[in-house]
Amino acid sequence: MIGRLNHVAIAVRDLDAASSVYRWTLGADVSAPVRLPEHGVTTVFVTLPNTKIELLAPLGSNSPIAKFLERNPDGGIHHICYEVDDILLARDRLKAQGARVLGDGKPKIGAHGKPVLFLHPKDFCGTLIEIEEA
Ligand code: CO
Repeated sequence: MIGRLNHVAIAVRDLDAASSVYRWTLGADVSAPVRLPEHGVTTVFVTLPNTKIELLAPLGSNSPIAKFLERNPDGGIHHICYEVDDILLARDRLKAQGARVLGDGKPKIGAHGKPVLFLHPKDFCGTLIEIEEA
């Protein structure tokens, strides 16, 4: 059911510092910051030949990544995103298999303007999973 790895998301406290590491130390193609108030994050996209890295920093007072950064003050891998052809079909299949879909189960528009859902890390080897309709 899942397709390509769309991105790996890394939560960071300081988006400018993280962008510099990727742009200058690692020599990658790094975008300008994009604010996503609905998701409580500001995102920078790092475009690699075969996938993307998203650097996420908290936006607003109750950002969903604030707790993660409390536990991981240096930042860390926050989630990975797999592509699916049909997000509603994927959601229903996952739920039928007992997987927990986070939130109200309705896809939100993600950082790439496409519908996304998040899946409970306890059901997926301790890793928060995002699925995106590609
Ligand atoms: Co993501």
